[in-house]
Parts: sequence; C-alpha cells; structure tokens
Amino acid sequence: MVTASALSKLTEPVNLPEPVKMTEPVILTALVILTALIVLVIIMSLIARASVIGGGARATRFSEAVRNFDQRALAPLDYGWFETADATAYSSLMPWHVRSTQEALAAEFARPPRTIVDATAHIGVDTANFRVMFPHAAITAFEIDRGVAAVLRRNMARVAKATGGEVQVRAADSLEYIRELTRAQAPDLIYLDPPWGGSGAAAAARDPAAASARRNLGLGSLPLAAVVAMAAHAGAVVVTKLPRETDVAEFAQRVRHYAEAPRRIRVTRYAVHDLRVRARAHAHVAYWLLVCRAD
Ligand SMILES: C[S@@+](CC[C@H](N)C(=O)[O-])C[C@H]1O[C@@H](n2cnc3c(N)ncnc32)[C@H](O)[C@@H]1O
Repeated sequence: MVTASALSKLTEPVNLPEPVKMTEPVILTALVILTALIVLVIIMSLIARASVIGGGARATRFSEAVRNFDQRALAPLDYGWFETADATAYSSLMPWHVRSTQEALAAEFARPPRTIVDATAHIGVDTANFRVMFPHAAITAFEIDRGVAAVLRRNMARVAKATGGEVQVRAADSLEYIRELTRAQAPDLIYLDPPWGGSGAAAAARDPAAASARRNLGLGSLPLAAVVAMAAHAGAVVVTKLPRETDVAEFAQRVRHYAEAPRRIRVTRYAVHDLRVRARAHAHVAYWLLVCRAD
C-alpha cells in the first residue's frame, strides 16, 4: 500500500544534473576538424592514385583515361611505369589497344625477334610492350625530341627494374639510322609509329595541318612508304601504324613502288580494335598495323 509520505516523496522535484550544452564555439571547432579530416582523406586518395599512373607528377588526360580503364585486361603491361609527355594522350599505345597489338605481333612472329628497334618511341609504351612480349630481345628505342627522350629514358629505367630487361635509349633521328642500315646489321624488327599530326580524325577534320599530316605520313622529309621500303630492304620486318582512314591498299602499293626490283615487299594488314567498343568489336577498327617484309 502506498502511504501518503511515500506519495509526497514521489512528487518531490528530482534534481537532475544540468544537461551539457554544446556551445556554438564547440560545434564550430568540431565541424572544422571534421571538414579538415575529409579534405585530408580526399587529398591522400588523390595522391595515391596519381602516383600509380603517370609518374605522379603529371595528371594528364592519358593518366585519367588509363586510370578509368579496367587494368585487368592488360597484364603484364603496367601503365604505372609511365611518366607522360604532352602528346602522350593521343599518340601512345593505349591500354584498350594492347590486346589487338599483342595478337598481331604474336601472329607475325612465330619465332620471337632477337633484335628490335622502336624507331619512334615517344615515352615508350610500345617499347615496353615489346619488352614484355619478347623478354630475350635486344631492344633499342629512338626518340628525336630531347625532352621526350629524357622521359623515355626514365620510363625505360622503371621498365627494366620491373621486368629485368634493359632498353637502350637513343635521343636521335632514327631516319639517319635507317639510312645507314645494311643487311648485315639490320634488326629483326623495326617499329614505326610516326606522328599523325594531332589528337584524332575529328581534330584533323577541323585542322587542315593535322589532316595533311595524317594523309602524308612521313619521317623527317621522307614519305613513310619510302622509309618502310628502305628498312624492309635492309632485312628487317617492318611494322608500322596507320590511321584507320588510310587507304591501306594504296599505301601498300606505294611501299611496293619504292621496292628495288627484282625484290618485292609482302604486306600484311592487321586491324587494331578498341576493347572498350566490345559490342562492335568485330567491325570497329581503331587503326591498322601494317607488316612489311622484303622477299
Ligand atoms: C606517335 S609517337 C609514338 C608513340 C609510342 N609508340 C608510344 O606508344 O608511346 C611518335 C614519336 O616519334 C618521334 N619521332 C618523329 N620523328 C622521329 C625520328 N625521325 N626519329 C626518332 N623519333 C621520331 C616523335 O617525337 C614522337 O614522340
């Protein structure tokens, strides 16, 4: 039974401790610390990503595009090896073209080449692809632009560290080297990936100089077909990269035109596909690889 005195106790006001009030300065400080933490996490993750691809120093479109591509399609070519230069985004071997390129090289070289010259190496993505595909080959990479050649040298040092295979870098005009070639000293494979004059067919359509460069591919003052014929005559298998709008049959005819009779030059064409265009992969051609051998 509840007595009157017990009831009065229950109805007495209870002295609870004062609730802790968050004063405005405390809330502000907490918010500042939280924001600083979030910014720090974002910066750290950006630094981590940048240092994986593109050497960390240059966040170019190349590294952005490569980062967004599924790297698992690529093994064993690692895009973390490459520091980039200004033209890299539209001139280097891109990850989504690696598979087709490797398939073409594998089809063409049942016996691996022992000596390879990349005559237009740029930052060396194709060169690195040769390095991983043909681990026993002696590889030399030419780059005419001294600034780019310095990047190439650093990239090839990283490739050597990762693969155990050296690449000899020459900051020089490969046309002079090709002119000097004789059958006795010709490498098994010469690769020619000449500048196409800009960032693509769309840019070429707007820019007459780029369009003309894509039509009249060459090395120095020589048309590309003449360089290809000269290198093939010296005894090398010549692999060259051509924009997709090239009339390949006509280009092959021009190469044959430069052939010294009675020798002939055999030409094989490979399509390079863009892995990102899976649905249309059978029909889509990103560019051509032309393989030329003198009889
Ligand atoms: C289209 S890029 C090659 C890209 C390269 N295959 C890659 O995957 O990184 C062409 C490069 O050839 C270089 N080049 C042009 N003419 C040359 C020559 N005569 N000798 C050596 N390099 C040359 C250019 O400076 C440019 O860097």
